Amino acid sequence: MAEIRAAAEAQPNIALIKYWGKRDVARNLPAVGSLSLTLGSLWTRMQVCLSPELDGDTLVVNGEPDDGMLPRVSRCLDRAAGPDRWFAAVDSECNFPIAAGLASSASAFAALTVAASAASGRSRDTLALARIAGAASGSAARSLYGGIVELDARDDEIEVSSLAEPGDWPLRVVVAVTSHGPKPVSSGAAMTLSAETSPFYSSWVERQACDLDVARSAVAARDFARLAAVSEHNCLKMHSVMWTSRPPVVYWNKATIACMQAVRDLQASGHAVFFTIDAGPQVKAVCLPESEQVVTAALRDVAGVESIMSTGLGAGARLLDPA
Ligand code: DP6
Repeated sequence: MAEIRAAAEAQPNIALIKYWGKRDVARNLPAVGSLSLTLGSLWTRMQVCLSPELDGDTLVVNGEPDDGMLPRVSRCLDRAAGPDRWFAAVDSECNFPIAAGLASSASAFAALTVAASAASGRSRDTLALARIAGAASGSAARSLYGGIVELDARDDEIEVSSLAEPGDWPLRVVVAVTSHGPKPVSSGAAMTLSAETSPFYSSWVERQACDLDVARSAVAARDFARLAAVSEHNCLKMHSVMWTSRPPVVYWNKATIACMQAVRDLQASGHAVFFTIDAGPQVKAVCLPESEQVVTAALRDVAGVESIMSTGLGAGARLLDPA
């Protein structure tokens, strides 16, 4: 029998109300809901080739074999294509730094789920695909959807939906990359450590619904100032949980803090901008289009900023024509 190929593309997303902590580690169910922006011009493209000729799965990322990620990829393939599937050759291409706090696993597992599901001939709706992607990486569930996305984690299965399409609110995201290196601790391992050791973890989980309510209503009202305030608060709260873990998990560097200060200065001079930071030292500044140039220039000037990327909001994961 001949091999079967499918390809998909997904954009990374950044959370404004963060996922940090797991309710069920085995099923990778998040302890808290989250709200995110799916980004526009950053992407991961995945090609999956299922073949009876292969004697094991293979993974190539940007032209290099990547055996470290392979076990997670194989488990995701099992869920998307079924445990009786043929082995797969997976080829991944990504146009932004991997493992540096830019949610490369989100776009990777979203694209992998869509491609593997199609290659195996299964027809699934977006939520079913999001649940499969989320089992591989919690944030990946959100990259199945475009624009502004909410993930609800109150039940035994996640629910994910789009609160606004990319064109509904033209937010811009300016990413200041302060280190291109991989992160010291994976977010999954750091979450477990936070749950086990941070004295703030339980109140983090308890208060998340409240932050989500505020953010959801700010999105509905297109109220930038309200979204800014709750997003920065939620980000700093998540990092407080990390910092108070034992041993502490600190992803920031000097430039991270300098970028936050630059955003504060821009706010003081009247610009509609706020920061958010994930499991890495990069700072993402979310702003309205009229402030984008000033925000980009200010962050570029910060000592230690290695590069800047900027993007609007993008679409959810989708199939591509195979090469
Ligand atoms: C800080 O989705 O990478 O970016 O489920 O263990 O793969 P796993 O975690 P992951 O965690 C993302 C954490 C975060 C916040 C967020 O994206 O909501």
